[in-house]
Amino acid sequence: MNEQEIQKRRTFAIISHPDAGKTTLTEKLLLFGGQIQVAGAVKSNKIKKSATSDWMEIEKQRGISVSTSVMEFDYRDYKVNILDTPGHQDFCEDTFRTLTAVDCVIIVIDGAKGVEAQTRKLMTVCRMRKTPVIVFINKMDREGRDPFDLMDEVESELQISVRPLSWPINQGQQFKGVYNIYENNLNLFTPNKQMVTEKVAVDINSAELDDRVGKADADKLREDLDLITGVYPDFDVDTYLNAEVAPVFFGSALNNFGVQELLDCFVEIAPSPRPTQAEERTIEPAEPKFTGFIFKITANIDPNHRSCTAFCKVCSGKFVRNAPYLHVRNGKTVRFSSPTQFMAQKKSTIEEAYPGDIVGLPDNGIFKIGDTLTEGEQLHFKGLPSFSPEMFKYIENADPMKTKQLEKGINQLMDEGVAQLFINQFNGRKLIGTVGQLQFEVIQYRLENEYNAQCRWEPISLYKACWIESDDEAELEAFKKRKYQYMAKDRDGRDVFLADSNYVLQMAQQDFKHIKFHFTSEF
Ligand code: G4P
Repeated sequence: MNEQEIQKRRTFAIISHPDAGKTTLTEKLLLFGGQIQVAGAVKSNKIKKSATSDWMEIEKQRGISVSTSVMEFDYRDYKVNILDTPGHQDFCEDTFRTLTAVDCVIIVIDGAKGVEAQTRKLMTVCRMRKTPVIVFINKMDREGRDPFDLMDEVESELQISVRPLSWPINQGQQFKGVYNIYENNLNLFTPNKQMVTEKVAVDINSAELDDRVGKADADKLREDLDLITGVYPDFDVDTYLNAEVAPVFFGSALNNFGVQELLDCFVEIAPSPRPTQAEERTIEPAEPKFTGFIFKITANIDPNHRSCTAFCKVCSGKFVRNAPYLHVRNGKTVRFSSPTQFMAQKKSTIEEAYPGDIVGLPDNGIFKIGDTLTEGEQLHFKGLPSFSPEMFKYIENADPMKTKQLEKGINQLMDEGVAQLFINQFNGRKLIGTVGQLQFEVIQYRLENEYNAQCRWEPISLYKACWIESDDEAELEAFKKRKYQYMAKDRDGRDVFLADSNYVLQMAQQDFKHIKFHFTSEF
């Protein structure tokens, strides 16, 4: 029974650079899944650039993202779970963690802009984890780049081989549709935001193709397809599943064009829940006993119901409401009477969940990112990496009467994964590392509003923090001695080097050859 449930699940995230069309594509997928009836029903959870000074707005938007964090729907015989990721780059650490809970990824690229910075960064995580990816080149209704150039760019920038499974006939004003190489049919473009497009089965060499798109475009398409067959090896699902090749689709999310083709192919080829690596062993989804881990904790900002939701990815077995589970880190038995599942904007209580599913657990502070739940086994899941932060500030207490509150607030916010805390070993001061300015502002706001504590930031100019280790104890000690002013400990007590410039870091790497400098906490 479990096996069937596992086989039909597809758990994935859509990643993109802001504005490439992630929200629009998500919405169209939900339309096909019958979760929403009209376009425009899904709120974008991206934080508009103009709102960067309005904390309430940010918090409200983060609040919204609680309900849209996971969207699940049924499509054909499949159960699809989409994990939403924050659009704003200052919260990309959230996205990194979400990527640890998915089995595959769809990357949306703006056909006019090509591969952009954030996509490149997120793809690094997919590569690290060997996550299979499908690429959707969006906005073909606009003038964009030459599709062959785009293919080359995706290959070189995202460092993965590509295999087009659909191919556009022109673009912008002249866009006539795509030829679906995967299904061998022609999809003609009718710009209509609500309707599914017309599909025609035509032989690529037939006169009908000329009639449909015009002789010149038909010939160009034949030429392009010849070239594709010549340049790219035939599509092989296993290379996709091994994360060696990314199938590519073209379309226009806004016009709902090429989206169903993407979804149809996706559910067929995308992996069902994959095994999860724990420190102790590999966990297979089909194992009878339940295991899961917390990859995200979101605060609910509604002041009347101050509670958090912890998101648990089911890795094996069956999650059952009210069943006793072991919270491995603190050794306690926990039961959940109101676990939730998310559907578009609705939340509902569930009785059970299967591998690949995401369960929302009410959390009053018992969870930390990375926590494991089991039926009794001591398991620790790997793979919730922290990345070297890029911005640093000392955090100071601005209200001596509220020291305890501040302490508690900082600890809980760090447990949620809002930012990273380091203790400078030289002066004992607390250092907060983030990837963006917004995170400092959110921390300050939340400390005040949720913990009644006041903090003050003090700038420090640092380039990067990296975790260090070495087999050569003597060299490690020598390094720590030489750099004593720049040594810190992370929350797990590991050694972290605070490099104040790229040059200093390079010199350190050169001078201390036996020391490894890591840019993620997982090594
Ligand atoms: P994001 O979540 O990746 O940040 O992108 P989002 O879907 O919000 O899309 C960004 C903008 O691009 C939106 O326009 C959206 O309408 C537009 N867009 C998405 N897909 C297509 C497409 O296939 N063709 C064209 N031409 N545009 C597309 P906006 O003006 O920023 O927002 P809105 O006011 O239209 O919602």
